[in-house]
Amino acid sequence: MKASARAHTNIALIKYWGKADADLMLPANSSISMTLDKFYTDTTVEFVDGQTEDSFVLDGQKQDAAATAKVGKILDLVRQMSDLTAGARVSSQNHVPNAAGLASSASAFAALALAASRAAGLNLDAAALSRLARRGSGSASRSIAGGFVIWHRGHDDLSSFAEPLPVADNLDLRMVTVLIDKQQKKVSSRSGMAHMAATSPYFHAWTAACEAACPQMATALAAGDFAQIGALAERNALMMHATNMAANPPFMYFEPTTIATLQYAAELRAQGLPVYATMDAGPNVKLLCQATDADKLAALVSQRIGTQTEICAPGPAAHLLEED
Ligand code: DP6
Repeated sequence: MKASARAHTNIALIKYWGKADADLMLPANSSISMTLDKFYTDTTVEFVDGQTEDSFVLDGQKQDAAATAKVGKILDLVRQMSDLTAGARVSSQNHVPNAAGLASSASAFAALALAASRAAGLNLDAAALSRLARRGSGSASRSIAGGFVIWHRGHDDLSSFAEPLPVADNLDLRMVTVLIDKQQKKVSSRSGMAHMAATSPYFHAWTAACEAACPQMATALAAGDFAQIGALAERNALMMHATNMAANPPFMYFEPTTIATLQYAAELRAQGLPVYATMDAGPNVKLLCQATDADKLAALVSQRIGTQTEICAPGPAAHLLEED
């Protein structure tokens, strides 16, 4: 009745930004990501006979009803699948350094899906785990798998799940995270994408562009074509932010330092250092580069932008942890 799991965060190269079904958490388009080795969440779930309510402790702090209800959504799905009625004790530890300014909902819901299903005695395969994690947070569907991952948009619960993508042996990619702001996001992913989808005239063009970019990105990963991977990722991220700027009212995640970092990446590229940028629902920038350039790039960016950087390699799939 008890299990512990670890899942790593992921950063999208082709973004999920807009839902087709908010209830089932079906995305408007397929997306592709890289799972990161450095940042992860560990979660223990125990179903306790006789306990009626769920409880949730995150980083040693008891969480409020709203946070516990989000976790409860996944626990309810697991209870339905396993005919359990007991309440659960959930305890999570985020190993996403605060300073990294990276979202942790992807690793959190992927670890929860694996730990809760095993604690309930279920033995779900990777696709079923991905579907379950998706119900907590869309991007969590991709954190079940390691390395490079595609989340197939699908058209119903069964067809919308993520799986690993084959990549060329010689592809040795790194993601350098650039901390620009540690503050909580001003506009959450969930509300930002909903507002964009409801009001931006670019929404349909955006999802069509992502659908077209996914097979191109999959081909570039399989071929180990770093320049193409980087160019596709950077353009896709900027397109996502352009859709937000065209929403009504418009909104944006850029800070002055965000722009300075994007411009510096372009400058370094022009000087012959192959580097491409991506960003999510916040001002922090993630730079894609090849492993041989990562140390140099991180040092240059820290020096010029004056911020903290972390070098991430592709990380592993979600996995169970030994009981203490
Ligand atoms: C910009 O998965 O956090 O990081 O499904 O509403 O929980 P919900 O949103 P979430 O959105 C992630 C948005 C993104 C792009 C991406 O990860 O693909």
